[in-house]
This record gives sequence, structure tokens and C-alpha cells, in this order.
Amino acid sequence: MIDRHAIARRIGELAQTIVRDLAPGTSSADDAHPVITLVPVLTGSIIFVSDLIRHMPLRMQIRLISITSYPGASTSSQGAKLRGGLTSLPESLAGAHVLLIDDILDSGKTLTLACEEIAKRGPASVKTCVLLRKQRPEAAKFPVDYVCFDIPDKFVVGYGLDCNDYYRNLPDIVTLRPEVLARLAAEAASP
Ligand code: IMP
Ligand code: MG
Repeated sequence: MIDRHAIARRIGELAQTIVRDLAPGTSSADDAHPVITLVPVLTGSIIFVSDLIRHMPLRMQIRLISITSYPGASTSSQGAKLRGGLTSLPESLAGAHVLLIDDILDSGKTLTLACEEIAKRGPASVKTCVLLRKQRPEAAKFPVDYVCFDIPDKFVVGYGLDCNDYYRNLPDIVTLRPEVLARLAAEAASP
């Protein structure tokens, strides 16, 4: 669906936009207040974030949040759940300008839950960024600040996105063949 060169080009552009948009008050960073606190959603955003931040020459901290919604081989959202063990949000985000980053905006449940967890910690501001946004009404309803690509409402893998934890290492974003999707649906129906 999207090849590695198109991804790399778009990420460079998006990083420039994010850096340019930073509020003027955020330019005076110190130890207590980095310019920006990135909160990647594990696990799907790891490749995206690692490429994006290498185009952002800023003082930044990274705090992780782990949310699961597509357990095992499911190809539709089963509801977002926080995984405490892998989450490294501090108790307080007072004064922090947070950029929440996920791989894909689908039903919006993951980003809604992540925003609630961040809001509890009292940050100065929160913006959201996704690599992909599916063209479906639920995704359009969630207000996201930065989107790399709008894509058709199809299940995709690669560049961090998985099916049953496989395919994250594919350099391109691809769809699964219909026969593979049919097999996964049959497996999900009769576990
Ligand atoms: P939402 O909570 O329905 O918006 O879905 C967001 C989460 O579901 C993302 O963080 C992904 O981990 C996962 N997800 C949604 N759509 C896909 C897809 O097409 N391929 C792989 N993972 C997906
Ligand atoms: Mg995810």
C-alpha cells in the first residue's frame, strides 16, 4: 500500500511541521521541562517513532504507554486495555508538552484511553500524531493533530504494524492477501 521511500519522505516532512509548530514557550528547555515529551504507544509505533525522532533535533524525553486492543490474530478491535507492566508514564506530567504517537487510528479507542491516562497526570499540553488514519467514520471523529497518511479501511501490516505479532519488520506497509484474512477470520471464529 505504501512503500518505504514514500514513508521516509513523509516522515521527514511531518517532523519539520511538528518542530515548527512547537509553542514559542517550549523553546526554553531545562532538566525539569524538556521541550517535548513523546509518548509512543507500544508496540506498533516503535519503528515510526524511531524514524521520526531522528528528524527532530530537540531536547526530548520519551515515556511509554502500552495498550493492547487486537489480541492474537484478531483483525478487528477488541477494546483497548492498558498494560501496566510496560507503561512508563511518570506519576506527574505537570509542565510537560506531550506528543502522543501511535501507528494507526482505527476506532479511536486506543488514543482515547491513552489521552485519559495522560490527562490524569496534568500535562501543560497534549498533541496527537499517527502514522496512519483509516478512512472510517470512527477515526474521522477523533481529533488528531498530525497524520502521515490517510488509508482505506483495510487491515495493514508492516513498518511496526502486526498481525499476531508478526510482520512488524516489513519495511513497507502492506495488506494481507484475501485468503490469509479469510483463514484468520475462521481461526478467530473457532479458537
Ligand atoms: P483503535 O483503538 O481501534 O483506534 O486501534 C488502534 C490500535 O489497533 C493500533 O494501535 C494498532 O495497534 C491496532 N490496529 C488497528 N488497525 C490495525 C491494522 O490495520 N493493522 C494492525 N494493527 C491495527
Ligand atoms: Mg497499537
